[in-house]
Amino acid sequence: MKKNKFVVVGAGSSYTPAIVAVLLSRKDDLKLSEIALYDIDEKRVQRTGRFCEMYAAERADGVPVTYTTDMEEAFRGANFLFVQIRPGCNQQREKDEKIPLSHNILGQETCGLGGFSFALRCIPAILDIVGKAQEICPDAWILNYSNPEAMISEAIYRTYPNAKALCICDMPISQEETIADFLQVPHKELTFQYFGLNHFGWFTHIYDKEGRDLLPALRERVLSGEKVSLVNAEAEEKHDNYWGEMYEHAIDGFRAFPEFFPLVYMSYYYFHNEIVSHMDKGYTRANYVLDVREKVVFDDCERCIEAGTTKGSALHTGVHGNYIVDIANAIINNTRERFIINTMNRGAIGNFNHDAVVEIPCYVGSAGIEPVSVGYIPQFHKSLMEAQKGYEKLAVEAALTGSYQKALEAVLLNRTVPSYAVGKAVLDELIEANKGYWNELK
Ligand code: G6P
Ligand code: MN
Repeated sequence: MKKNKFVVVGAGSSYTPAIVAVLLSRKDDLKLSEIALYDIDEKRVQRTGRFCEMYAAERADGVPVTYTTDMEEAFRGANFLFVQIRPGCNQQREKDEKIPLSHNILGQETCGLGGFSFALRCIPAILDIVGKAQEICPDAWILNYSNPEAMISEAIYRTYPNAKALCICDMPISQEETIADFLQVPHKELTFQYFGLNHFGWFTHIYDKEGRDLLPALRERVLSGEKVSLVNAEAEEKHDNYWGEMYEHAIDGFRAFPEFFPLVYMSYYYFHNEIVSHMDKGYTRANYVLDVREKVVFDDCERCIEAGTTKGSALHTGVHGNYIVDIANAIINNTRERFIINTMNRGAIGNFNHDAVVEIPCYVGSAGIEPVSVGYIPQFHKSLMEAQKGYEKLAVEAALTGSYQKALEAVLLNRTVPSYAVGKAVLDELIEANKGYWNELK
C-alpha cells in the first residue's frame, strides 16, 4: 500500500499543532507514514516540533514526527506539502496593518495595501519553495494556504503551470458552515454555488438536498428587517469577537446588494470608510494574534515540553486544519468531494478573463480538480472583480520584476486607495518597513 509523507512548511506557526493533530487523528484514511515539520526559523520550529513529536508519540503510535530547518531533508520523499508561510511573522503583519491605517485607509493582512505588502514578502519565498519542490519531490501535491492567496496563487500558477499545486482558503467553507448553522441544516446536505477571487467573492445559491434554493428565503428575511445574526461557532468558542463583527457587516452588505451573499471580506470594499473609522489604529488584529492566539499556543507548547508530556494540553483542532486535511483526503481516496479552490479560470466564468485565477467550486479526486462551470456573471460583480484582478496581476508583476511603476499602478487600482498621493505615500512607507523582505523596487 502506498503510504504518504506529509510536510508542513512554515511549521513554526501557531496553526501547526492543530494541523498535526488532525493528520494523526485521520492517519488510517490518509495512509500516513510520516510528518515532517519544516521552517526557516529554528527556535519556532523546535517549539512546535518538539511538542508535536511528543504529541504523536503519546497518541498515534507508528507515525514519526520530525522537525528541521533543512528543506531538502524535509521534502525528500514527500507526498503532500502543506504550505502556510508568513515571512516576517505577525510582527511584519502589524506594520502592514498600521501603515495604511495611519493614512486612514484599510490596514489588513490580505485586503488593501496590507495585502500588497504581504504579497511582496511572500511571493519570492513561495516561488522558491514550489521551485525546490519540483526538484526534490516533483510528484508531491502542494496545498498552499499561505496568504495573500489571491496573489500567491497568480504567482504560483503563472510561474509553475505544471506543478501539482492547489491554492486554498478556509474562509468560504467557514462561512458556508456558519450559514448552514443559522439555517439549521447540516452543512453536508447543502450545495453552495459561489464565484469570485480569493477574499473577494459571493455565494449565489444555497441548494438543499431536494434541490431547493434557500438563498431567496434568507434574502427575504434580511430585507424584511429581521436581525439575522450569523455566529461562527469556532470563533465563539475562542471568544474571538472579530468574526462576529465581520458577519454583521456581511449581512449589511447582503442587504445593500441583495443579489448574492457576499464573502465577509467584501465589507472592506462596500463599507471601507465606515469600517476604517471604527478600527483601532494603535491595536490591530496582528496585536491580538500575537498577544492571544500565539501566546496561548506557544505557552502551551512550552509548558508541555517542560513537563515532558502533552497530556492535558488545551490545544484543539479547527476548521483550518480540518479543511486542508479534507482536501488531501479527497486526493488520496479519490472521494470527488466539492471544495472551493483558487484555480485558473479557463472559461469557468464565461465572461471573465480566462487567463486569471478565480475562486470557484471544484470536485477533487486523485486526478486533481474538476472546476464547476459558473457561467456568466452580472456586470456589477464582473466589474468589481476586473479592477481587483488588475490590481492583483500588477502586484505580482511588481514582485516578479521589481518595477516601482508597476507597484504604483497596482496600488492605485486597489479600491481602498482614494488618490495617487495617498497611495504613493503608503507605498513608500511600506518599502521602508519591508527592507530585507521585498525585492528592491526600482
Ligand atoms: C481566515 C482567512 C485566512 C486568514 C485568517 C486570519 O481564516 O481565510 O486567509 O489568514 O482568517 O485570521 P487571524 O485570526 O489571523 O486574523
Ligand atoms: Mn483566506
